Amino acid sequence: MNKIDWDNLGFEINPADKMFIAHYREGRWDDGKIVDYSTIPIYPSAVVINYGQGLFEGMKAYRTEDGRIAMFRPRDNAKRLNNGCRRLCMPELAEDFFLESVKALLIENKEFIPPCGKGDLYIRPILFGSGQMLGVNPADEYTFIIFMSPVGPYFKSGFSGINLEIRDDYHRAPQFGTGGVKAIGNYAASLYPRRVVKENEYDEVIYLDAKTCTYIEEVGSANFFMLKNGVISTPMLGGSILPGITRDSVLTVAQKRFDLIPQERDIRYVEVFSADEVFCTGTAAVLTPILTVSYRGKRHTIGDGKPGGVTRRLYDELKGIQLGARPDDFGWFYEVK
Ligand code: PLP
Ligand code: COI
Repeated sequence: MNKIDWDNLGFEINPADKMFIAHYREGRWDDGKIVDYSTIPIYPSAVVINYGQGLFEGMKAYRTEDGRIAMFRPRDNAKRLNNGCRRLCMPELAEDFFLESVKALLIENKEFIPPCGKGDLYIRPILFGSGQMLGVNPADEYTFIIFMSPVGPYFKSGFSGINLEIRDDYHRAPQFGTGGVKAIGNYAASLYPRRVVKENEYDEVIYLDAKTCTYIEEVGSANFFMLKNGVISTPMLGGSILPGITRDSVLTVAQKRFDLIPQERDIRYVEVFSADEVFCTGTAAVLTPILTVSYRGKRHTIGDGKPGGVTRRLYDELKGIQLGARPDDFGWFYEVK
């Protein structure tokens, strides 16, 4: 194991020693095995590198204050991966196989889980068409890999907050496209818009709907939320937005623990400028305050330009449940032994 500087973790690859690999051939998945983290051989004609037939998931393992290993709603990741498999014509994985594989690998890599409070072990399952094909067809062979890396905050500034730009000249995913699943191509499409906003020193893009450029969709790697007068709103899922597991958890917690009124609805981008608080959610992003939202060169400061009080309380509650430090009546905390 390479020495890891637990005090300076960012969101960078620092691979844990072991990875899991399974293959689908002749109509069935094999049992898979844990091997050393390494490169993988792949045909130049593999469907994934020609036609983008691939999916990924993002999960985390947490070290609790009393030293236990925990995950958060991992079965929901298995379900979302399988939804994506249907959309991309790939063979599904049994949920139990997915979970057992993640757990077995986690135990092997457990010394890579950062101490409580220093970061998390990011878990990246990937599933892709590794069989050869020349025409545009689903592959006949698939590979499922899980690798892991200790990480710190996705956005360098962490809970201090981020500055985002709404773009109406680039879209992430159209209606009826693949935005509702974690298809690898969605992220390829977001690289250039991300570069453009970063050149202007914004942290990320806020995408609008591809049909009318009126409604907020999501941030390139996280879901979007706004608060106004005790109502917590997030864009309605309609196939172009990723159904985030953190998104669902925040909607539930906001209603059940904080008596906020949750709304999944179309949010016009102009509404955001006068919101009380704005934030985004995701496994990597956790719950990150959005301090300013710019549009066509005009910067709008949200509230007093500091992380909001409700945002803070929601963050503490979510982290508390993930770390087993606050009551969980939802069955989300998942201990790995
Ligand atoms: N939206 C996009 C585009 C994402 O990549 C992610 C991350 O997985 C999310 C939203 C948040 O999803 P989750 O909360 O399940 O991590
Ligand atoms: C996650 O939050 O796990 C994601 O997949 C976002 C990512 C693109 C880093």
